[in-house]
Formats: sequence, structure tokens, C-alpha cells
Amino acid sequence: MLVSSKGLLLAAQQEGYAVGAFNTNNLEITHAIFRAAVAQRAPVLLQLSSGAITYAGIQFLSQIVRTGASSADVPAALHLDHGPDFDTVMLCLRHGFTSIMRDASKLPFDENVAEIRKVVGAAHAVGVPVEAELGRLVGVEDHVVVSEREQAMTDPDEAAAFVEATGCDFLAVSIGNAHGFYKGEPNLDFDRLQAIRDRVDVPLVLHGASGIPDHQIRTAIELGICKINIDTEIRYAFAQSVRRTLAEQPEQIDPRKILGPAIDGMQAVVERKIELFGSKGRA
Ligand code: 13P
Repeated sequence: MLVSSKGLLLAAQQEGYAVGAFNTNNLEITHAIFRAAVAQRAPVLLQLSSGAITYAGIQFLSQIVRTGASSADVPAALHLDHGPDFDTVMLCLRHGFTSIMRDASKLPFDENVAEIRKVVGAAHAVGVPVEAELGRLVGVEDHVVVSEREQAMTDPDEAAAFVEATGCDFLAVSIGNAHGFYKGEPNLDFDRLQAIRDRVDVPLVLHGASGIPDHQIRTAIELGICKINIDTEIRYAFAQSVRRTLAEQPEQIDPRKILGPAIDGMQAVVERKIELFGSKGRA
């Protein structure tokens, strides 16, 4: 069933686990996420970026997710990932999203605050919670030097002031995480996460979680991460499966025979993440 993300993340915060937030941009990924969530009896977020919305069309994609949610007997939220501007937020609210992220983290602190306050005002008026981000996720390029890396990270005192000033419901943090695959082993700054946790009481969000080793994910959850975003590992499973199928059956032209195994591969990734995040059996 389609629900707000607020109750899901508050329950996760209280019980000490994290809810998976999985990116989708088509029917097959959406099927994989719902099948995994139902198989594992887990609450789940399905998140659409503005790129996904441009690719598939908001009407199509949000209806696919809503249809999946109405036939799945686990709670699921329809979430905007990295909302780039106020207009996109409003469009998503009109299409029945039950969770919004507005990412204004590239703006200076005061402008980020002003923008999120505006979004919180609009979203809360229709009962929808808001995720915001403070600090920037740096790229994974080798040339990013340590001081740059640290400057981009979330400052714990600023985080407290930010949540207080904006009224946001969840806060995405930058603690050494990055989108896409990591070059070498990522090194999350757990002291920083602990300091943020000590000053901020809303559920915390970890972006860029593909490729972070399991033991670091478990520690992050112990230190207060309640929502974990996964995109790249699902894409990788999709591409691997399609490549394998076409290599084994070069004459195959039936989309169902090509994409069916890809759904299975993506479902396996989502199920594994659900177990790792501790959200199995929480629905
Ligand atoms: P990955 O691409 O590392 O899985 O991160 C996804 C994400 O954070 C989406 O917001």
C-alpha cells in the first residue's frame, strides 16, 4: 500500500534499522523492487529522480509505482530523489508523491535554508514529508584532495541549525559517501556521523550507498542512518543480465526473454540490501 515515508523512517529510527530507497525509471525495475519487498516483508521507498521523470514521463512512471504499491501488501512510499527545483516538487505533489527530497545542497547555507523552508511549507500543507541535504557529495575521482573532501562534508553544528531553521523531516548527510561506483574502498567518517546524530534528531539519510562495504553500512545504521539510497548496484545487475542473455542467445528478440532474467537479477540485489539494512520482516 502507498504510504508516507514519515512513519516508515520514524519506525526505523525507533527500532534501529534502515529502509531501502531504490531508484526506478521503468516497469522492470519497479517490479524487481516490489517483488523483493514483498518476498522480504519489508517497507520500501521507490524513488524517482528528475532524470527518471524526463525519461519515462511523470504520469507513466508515478502510475506504475502507485499501481505496484496498491497491489503489494507491504508499505511503500513514492519519493522524489534530488528534486532540482520548486516546480518539480509541485509537479510531484500534484502526482501524489508521498515523500519529497529537494536538493539545494549546492547553494550557500542561507539560500539552502530559504529554499527548503519554502518546500516544507508547500509539502507539509498536503501532509508530505521533506528530505533535505546539507554538505555536498564529492565525486569519486582520484584527484579530490582530502581538504576538499572534508569541506564538502556535513558540519554537525550547521546540521543542527539547518534542521531547526527549515523544519525538514529527514536530513541527507555527506560523510565521505559518493554516487556511482567507488574507486577503492570508501571510508565513511563515523565520528562526524556520530556528532551529527548527537545534535540532530530527525532520521538521517545515506546517499551513494552502492559499493559501500556491508560492515560500514551496519555501522552507519547503528549511528542513526534510517534511509539508504541504492541505484548503481541495481543498474549494474540489469546491465549484466542483459549482456549475459544476449551473449548466450544472440538471436533472441523477445523483450520478455531479455528483460525477465534482468528483473530476477535486480530483485536479488534489492533483497540482499533489505536484509543488510535490517528492514526484513518489518512490514
Ligand atoms: P548509488 O548510485 O551509489 O546507488 O546512489 C544512489 C543515490 O544516492 C540516489 O540518490
